[in-house]
Amino acid sequence: MTDRTMILGMHLGTGYGSQALSWRAPGVDPGAYTDFDAQVRHARAAERGKFAFLFLPDSLAVTRGIEREVPQATLEPMLTLAAIARATERIGLVATGSTTFNEPYNVARQFKTLDVMSHGRAGWNAVTTSDPNAAANFGQTIADRPERYGRAHEVIQVVQALWGSWQEDAWVKDPATGTFVDPDKLRPVNLQGAHVAARGPLPIPPSEQGQPVIFSAGGGAYGLTLAGRYASGVIGAAFTIEDARAQRDAAREAARQAGRDPDEVKYFAGVMPALGTSVRDALDRRMALNGDLFASRVPYLGLMLGLSLDAGQLDQPLTPAQLGAARAGSGDPRAARALEVAREGWTLREVLAHGVIDYHPTPVGPPAVVADHLQAWFDAEAVDGFWVSPDVNATDINTFVDEVVPLLQDRGLYPADYVGTTLREHLDVPHQYGIDPRIVTH
Ligand SMILES: Cc1cc2nc3c(=O)[nH]c(=O)nc-3n(C[C@H](O)[C@H](O)[C@H](O)COP(=O)(O)O)c2cc1C
Repeated sequence: MTDRTMILGMHLGTGYGSQALSWRAPGVDPGAYTDFDAQVRHARAAERGKFAFLFLPDSLAVTRGIEREVPQATLEPMLTLAAIARATERIGLVATGSTTFNEPYNVARQFKTLDVMSHGRAGWNAVTTSDPNAAANFGQTIADRPERYGRAHEVIQVVQALWGSWQEDAWVKDPATGTFVDPDKLRPVNLQGAHVAARGPLPIPPSEQGQPVIFSAGGGAYGLTLAGRYASGVIGAAFTIEDARAQRDAAREAARQAGRDPDEVKYFAGVMPALGTSVRDALDRRMALNGDLFASRVPYLGLMLGLSLDAGQLDQPLTPAQLGAARAGSGDPRAARALEVAREGWTLREVLAHGVIDYHPTPVGPPAVVADHLQAWFDAEAVDGFWVSPDVNATDINTFVDEVVPLLQDRGLYPADYVGTTLREHLDVPHQYGIDPRIVTH
């Protein structure tokens, strides 16, 4: 065992949970979408479990399926985190914000205010936004990647320059001399790029962590370059240990190429635990939760397995002939796991309840199964930690905190308490103020 400790983030997307029909689950208030007391309760529960951060994704348009399914994001994430900031003390607060549909001055001002308000716990998940419906809400269309990523680099650099424009010791605030700010230490940035510009300065002093931490999500060459230059946290999506390790290694290599120490970038894989007292109980919970959706998912399950399947077979396992013919399709990284589960003899409904076509891997069963999953990936050095998406926030955050976290602690994988007070300390990433002078941009 090494002295690395696992870092966890809690996905706090909606007031409900990550399963599409969690808004209808027993014990869940169907109106939780607008209930900020509930969001605060969930945040405090995660803080009790020593989670390093809350992660709020964002969508700038109505998401598909909203007629029956929970939306993919909460109300405005920064305002949500402002409400949570005042009711929590240690947990980091990471909000997603678009580099395409925001001006850098707005981003710099809002995130640094959150950082000051929370005493150094803010993070910005900088995303380029690829949804045409989002663009339509700004009277625009989605530009190609070079354009969007070109803007993203400029926006992040201008934001960081603005954060540094009020130098760390600029705030004199001395009633005796009458000096509030040392004017020599409050300097304009005067940046003019091809996409954005700002004069500055930004009239906000440093927080306890200097300035907010940058996260990034997504992949590809463009996303990696962005992560390598600026991100301290990468929100990943991987279905196997090998894939996660490849993503983590790529982020670390991108950081090295940008002139940084790879240990400054922490990689988080997603996980969607299906918790229960037993495997049977966990599957039953998932089936009760999502029963109405499974019939429509059978054809896609078939596609992944190279079979023609229909909903009539929902409560039967694959036949011997189907098992003989089934192949894990190469088009979907989840197919191998789907085949593995189908071969165990479960009905198609149970196969789907294993989360085989969910967004992230799903350990199914009692807390020890979830802890085993996290440990296997962590021990393999495929991740620095995870962002956890609970099925139902109202119940499963507490279950994770009360039953999975102690197992991780007993195994020496997870800290007994917060070591520091800021998000940078929770992530074990260095202090930064203004633009990182080491960054190689060409
Ligand atoms: C795990 C994960 C989470 C993401 N979360 C968000 C999000 O909350 N909001 C968003 O607009 N994009 C999000 N993205 C999308 C990426 O930022 C990126 O836009 C997407 O992968 C499309 O790539 P492109 O911009 O290179 O075309 C996420 C991506 C991943 C892999």
